[in-house]
Amino acid sequence: MIKFFLKTYGCQANEADSAAISIYLTGLNCKEVYSETEADLIIVNTCAIREKAEEKFFSYLGMLNKKIKVNKPYLKTIVIGCIATYKKDEIYKRFDNVNFVFGAKEDLNNLKVVLSDFIVELESIKNIYHSENSKRDTGFLNLGGFKTAPKELKRSLINIMTGCNNYCSYCIVPFTKGREKSFSAFQILQKIEQDIKAGAKEVTLLGQNVNSYKDPESGTGFFELLESVAKIEGEFWVRFLSPHPKDMTKEVLQVMARYPEKLCAYVHHPLQSGSNKILQAMNRTYTVEQFLEQIDWMKTILPEITITTDIIVAFPGETNQNFEQTMRVIEAVRFDGIFPFIYSARKYTKALSLKDNCSKDEKIKRINELIKKQQDITFEQNSLKMGKVLRVLVEKRMANGRLLARTQGNIRVFLDGDDSLIGSFVHVKVEKTRRSDLLGVLV
Ligand code: 5AD
Ligand code: SF4
Repeated sequence: MIKFFLKTYGCQANEADSAAISIYLTGLNCKEVYSETEADLIIVNTCAIREKAEEKFFSYLGMLNKKIKVNKPYLKTIVIGCIATYKKDEIYKRFDNVNFVFGAKEDLNNLKVVLSDFIVELESIKNIYHSENSKRDTGFLNLGGFKTAPKELKRSLINIMTGCNNYCSYCIVPFTKGREKSFSAFQILQKIEQDIKAGAKEVTLLGQNVNSYKDPESGTGFFELLESVAKIEGEFWVRFLSPHPKDMTKEVLQVMARYPEKLCAYVHHPLQSGSNKILQAMNRTYTVEQFLEQIDWMKTILPEITITTDIIVAFPGETNQNFEQTMRVIEAVRFDGIFPFIYSARKYTKALSLKDNCSKDEKIKRINELIKKQQDITFEQNSLKMGKVLRVLVEKRMANGRLLARTQGNIRVFLDGDDSLIGSFVHVKVEKTRRSDLLGVLV
């Protein structure tokens, strides 16, 4: 039996692809293992969004070469995802332990075919190796789905679309993943139904720009899809990641308000910058005023909503005043959480040619200031939950002995309880609020 290990970097779309590969390989009688040393096949799913993500991946490959491959000559390594799209040659050249490189733009169905051939080949090599201890070598390698780990909540990660046509000036994704492509609503709904029947309690609809979704067959859009998902029978929650403000409509929020039991009152709404000048340079095609209007819609239509965002600091040309404008928006909106990033220059992007005249110290100062401000806001936002009774979904047992659950807004809640609660919805009363999580008791 071939044992495979999946190492996944980056976004949840990558998690969904990895989950699909896991299902596919399990269907081929392979077994997923959770450490590299146990594996016969290692699949590394890569992320190119920022330079740091790339550096991590390259040092991981180096580690595999030095520590893992030496003890298992027949070990095969496959690299997939965004870095695999645009650094194929470099990966092959630098790492002779890598047997196959398959880019994010390529058709995942081809990956399936290659993968099945590859497993057959690997099986015979493994057998020969173990029977004769001979040393031989050859080389070789699909879609969203359902990931099961022992005693953990079952989640369904569904790629509803892939690629991006937006060309934000800092972003490599349109180049690594290619143009937008929406998947068939019929197939998406079928897959979700299957996953719900198999016990999934949480469905996440994924895409680089989910609200530009368009069913290739009927031409219907995102809010219609969302409504169809909400109509599927069963007890489950639905989230989506990420919308683009340019495509955010009231209809999406109204559908969410109509199905409060299923559609989580949660939106991750990436602002990127609080300065109109920077937003324009980023090619984001909305203004701060339009973004703020959308936040008003959200808070009016869904009063209990949790809102998070992405912010990039020190984009080329960002002055101290521009950064202060971002800080003011952060104070005004009072997001429940933010994902802050320092701008990272990426190959192919338009911003690469822009002059970056912000010192490293200044970049760090800005991001720290932003993090500090948001920590205070998150703490205040969490404090508003004190004493409230919330419906949460229990995820798993933590090392500290407590159960980890999450609210609709993805806020972590710790509670005491039995293992049998894992994967179920319970009500908890919030007894303590902290900076990044809540403590609750079952009611
Ligand atoms: N530099 C820094 N942050 C980036 N992001 C995307 N590209 C870059 C880059 N070149 C951030 C954006 C996006 C999130 C997924 O990653 O904030 O919303
Ligand atoms: Fe990148 Fe912009 Fe597309 Fe998001 S919308 S993936 S930031 S280009």
